[in-house]
Amino acid sequence: MLNIVVGGFYGDEGKGKIVGYLAVKDNFDFVVRAGGGPQAGHTVIEGKKVTQIPSGFINPNSRLLIARGTIINPEVVLDEIEKYGVGDRVGIDYGCTIIEQKHIEQEKELVKRIGSVGTGTGPARADRVLRKARIAKEIYSLKPYLTDVADEVNEAIKKGKKVLIEGVQGYALSLLDHKFYPYVTSQDTTASQFAADVGIGPKTIDDVLVVYKAYASRVGIGPMNFEWDEEKRKKYGIEERGTVSGRLRRLGDFDLDLARESLIRNTGTQAAITCIDRLFNGNSGIKKFDELTEEAKKFVNRIDYFLRKSSPYFKGIKIISTGPNLEDTIDLR
Ligand code: GTP
Ligand code: MG
Repeated sequence: MLNIVVGGFYGDEGKGKIVGYLAVKDNFDFVVRAGGGPQAGHTVIEGKKVTQIPSGFINPNSRLLIARGTIINPEVVLDEIEKYGVGDRVGIDYGCTIIEQKHIEQEKELVKRIGSVGTGTGPARADRVLRKARIAKEIYSLKPYLTDVADEVNEAIKKGKKVLIEGVQGYALSLLDHKFYPYVTSQDTTASQFAADVGIGPKTIDDVLVVYKAYASRVGIGPMNFEWDEEKRKKYGIEERGTVSGRLRRLGDFDLDLARESLIRNTGTQAAITCIDRLFNGNSGIKKFDELTEEAKKFVNRIDYFLRKSSPYFKGIKIISTGPNLEDTIDLR
């Protein structure tokens, strides 16, 4: 069984918590981080953040793989491995592209121009395209962890193991999208891209779970529909800062058109909605749909109805997150 989790908006939808929840609840044998680089931070539970190792580390039974399409900073990976004590179950693909100091320097221009996070991910990928980047198998300190992730995952599928692929960022940051370009990341951020990043074919995918936040959020500059002004920010009382950048995030209403587009282009089969408790008072920690407030139920039902009409592959909103802890979850599967 193989599932992919992707972001439906601009990233930071709460994929870290959703992946952590699924890794534990469904006891995935493998959790694979696909795509992005150390610019993409995930918060699994409060105080437990990762940027390179999979959010599934929270399940001690899961093998943790970093796919070849992921850009890595060896120092950052090794720090996270040590911090969470997961050295015996991490595998890093031989082919991962390496970030060097010069890439971080080169990104300063992108930070100014398009609001990049500044971790060197884009310039390292550019060097990969130019066939001059270093790759993981050249890095001595990564040696104990090196593996062929594509082989491991394809073998796991053959054996009927459970594999969860964790995509990064969100649909609207896709490099090839014309509406958001150039305020995008250095690759596409869709299920197909993440599958390619791992080295698996389209037929291997059973479910694609698209994660939306109950409101939209965006770090840095670039187009954003229905952005909140000062008054609306005050009304909801929500303030967010970037996991890696620490920058104040821009916030906006749930964008139905963007949600539909990302559902269709990912062939999303299921969806999760996070942070319902932040948007509507009285829903914190709720575990049953019936116990949500009327306005929260109406909000979720309206989106569910709209998305079901939008795609023949979509089976419904299956997970609703009502707080930062893994238990703060309504599971409708
Ligand atoms: P991804 O990049 O998508 O993995 O998400 P992130 O970790 O960058 O998301 P975000 O920064 O938006 O999440 C930040 C905080 O929200 C973290 O502290 C999470 O623990 C917390 N969080 C996640 N889901 C929920 C939720 O449903 N309700 C509340 N109140 N907090 C949540
Ligand atoms: Mg994030």
